[in-house]
Amino acid sequence: MASEERTAPAPASERLRTADRPASLVPMIAIAVIASLVGIALGLIIDWFPLQASTQAEPIDTFYDVLIIASVPMFVLVSAVVLYCAWRFKVRPGEEDMDGPPIHGNTRLEVIWTLIPAVMMLALCTYAFVVLQDAEKAPAAGEPRELNVKVVGEQFTWTFFYPAATPGGEEIASDELYVPKDRSVLFTIKTKDVLHDFWVPEFRWKVDAVPGVDTKYRVTPTRLGTYPVVCAELCGLGHAVMRQSAHVVESAEFDRWLQEKRTEAAGGGEGGEDEGGQQADVDGKSVFTDNDCGSCHMLADAGTDGAIGPNLDETLAGRDANYIRESIVAPNEQITKGFQAGIMPPNYEQTLSAAELDALVTYLEEVAKG
Ligand code: CUA
Repeated sequence: MASEERTAPAPASERLRTADRPASLVPMIAIAVIASLVGIALGLIIDWFPLQASTQAEPIDTFYDVLIIASVPMFVLVSAVVLYCAWRFKVRPGEEDMDGPPIHGNTRLEVIWTLIPAVMMLALCTYAFVVLQDAEKAPAAGEPRELNVKVVGEQFTWTFFYPAATPGGEEIASDELYVPKDRSVLFTIKTKDVLHDFWVPEFRWKVDAVPGVDTKYRVTPTRLGTYPVVCAELCGLGHAVMRQSAHVVESAEFDRWLQEKRTEAAGGGEGGEDEGGQQADVDGKSVFTDNDCGSCHMLADAGTDGAIGPNLDETLAGRDANYIRESIVAPNEQITKGFQAGIMPPNYEQTLSAAELDALVTYLEEVAKG
């Protein structure tokens, strides 16, 4: 009888007491250490981020690296223990009806595995708080005065508003974001309809545009260039094309640009619409391409093949200037069969100058004639 018992698999309780348990921890720890090192190396070597174009970008990227270093070993450790236990203590043939050993817990272990993550969490939260405070800090006295830009999101476009020339005057609207280098910019973000999210990856910050609420963040651009403005909150069918450009320019160039915009807004801009035949310099086809109309619309003449909005070669064929103009400034008035209202931004009358709009209508009218 005694020999029979020995050939049967040992009960789980007995197996746990066997001497091979401490020995088999060694490969587990070795695997965990190697996997952690590989994970950390991958986390740090892979270039996850776009360019750093603001003072806020570097501390945020460093914070990310620290999170990788802290969290990869934790993840690997927990995964290694779980996988090891699933393999090592799995039910073997003949053990199906057997119960596991009675376990009453291990106070020392529990204190350790509660304390280590708690201390780590506390340290990382403190670090995150410091990074955040620093990134949100307003410019100190003596630094260039902060620029205020109002960002308004709507399905499916952004409009950027700059302070008026004189207090109480009309704000300057632009469909492209211009910001000066080395000067703090405070964005106040609003939405006209649903949730959007204002994001320039190179600046690192992003924040939701929330109906009824003004959200804010500030960045100090540090790198000249043109970067994408991205909507990072699923906001409807046109979400993917809710993209514009952010230009970081030298301070003097920014002032010049803003002054030009103000002159334009005051009605002194080039190409007045009333005199007719005066809009010499604006090329309608460039207006079409510069404003990315082709990312939504197919138009053979401009070589575009967007499919989000109606195919203009078909829908505009034989149409007159009035119809074309209405389609641009009030796109929801008449909807082409198979398309939905509310996809095309309704603000082109505001973001295009009168001369640009005229040129675009003239261009499309000519194309429509075939
Ligand atoms: Cu707006 Cu997505």
